[in-house]
Amino acid sequence: MASTTQTEISERFALSRDLHPERVATFAQDVRAGLGARPYALSPKYFYDDLGSSLFEAICRLPEYYLTRVERDLLATYGRAIVAAFREPLELVELGSGSALKTKLIIEAILERQPQLTYHPIDISPDALVESSLALIAANDRLRVSAHASDYYTLLRERRLTTRDRVLALYLGSNIGNFQPAESRALLELVSATLQPGDGLLVGYDLKKDAQILEAAYSDATGVTAAFNKNLLGRINRELDGDFDLDAFRFRATYDMRRGAVDSFLVSERRQTVRIGGAGLHVPFSVGETIHTESSFKFSREEIVALARRCGFAESKTFTDAGARYALTLFTVER
Ligand code: AVI
Repeated sequence: MASTTQTEISERFALSRDLHPERVATFAQDVRAGLGARPYALSPKYFYDDLGSSLFEAICRLPEYYLTRVERDLLATYGRAIVAAFREPLELVELGSGSALKTKLIIEAILERQPQLTYHPIDISPDALVESSLALIAANDRLRVSAHASDYYTLLRERRLTTRDRVLALYLGSNIGNFQPAESRALLELVSATLQPGDGLLVGYDLKKDAQILEAAYSDATGVTAAFNKNLLGRINRELDGDFDLDAFRFRATYDMRRGAVDSFLVSERRQTVRIGGAGLHVPFSVGETIHTESSFKFSREEIVALARRCGFAESKTFTDAGARYALTLFTVER
């Protein structure tokens, strides 16, 4: 069981945090596993230090990265319809809430129907939780926030989320796309086991489409996504005493139509050996050798519905934009 601290930040905002004395050790272990054997790979979960989170916010504003904009428009258009699918007063849970900018739209739709709301954002970053929660409670005096700075797998597995009313859980931002198929199934099973029959889950996901549009979304002309990926190497240099030359790697993203995933890579521009003192590694690279950094899976509505059905969810309604780029599917737990 992770040890946690509970802080009452204001009358309407409580934050529980997991204490992570092992975090640096885990990063070193994962880097050792990912760069200690070929083909090289690093986990995308390490993108999001302070600099990486800022770069991700910038990605969300890029013209090529339509996902965030389309999802926000869908929530603005259909937020009321989503909330109206439940008759009871709702409590809101969000997995990976980040800046929670889009969540505001659902919160406002709920507060049009009930006098008060408790919102339970779960995110690995305590700073993001404090900033977003303070902004939300300042804007809505009928809102309470019970935030968890935790990895949502750990929190749900340890049954540390306590709710009382009918729950609407949000899993937005195409975050489901960053899991391998077996992992997304395990996560949905865990969410389903946490919820009660009749509770809801709203999943936001990117739809399968033309490879050119997808590759442009991940290889933007400004180079922000390249910088976001290279920050993984910068982070290894900063935190694990590495000597990566960031200019000796270029970024590449390609859509694999067979798996339905955009794969991101850092490609070595020359023959080189990189030393990572904190992981006890010397990593040799040949010219063109890659480090896999992320898979971003794309789905059809039918695929998401079939996946969720195996985990105890029934589709209640799916909302898409006119260009069929992105979708929100509202599920209810049926056991
Ligand atoms: C957070 N996640 C859903 C993003 C995605 O689309 O896979 C991360 C990202 N990577 C590059 N651009 C955005």
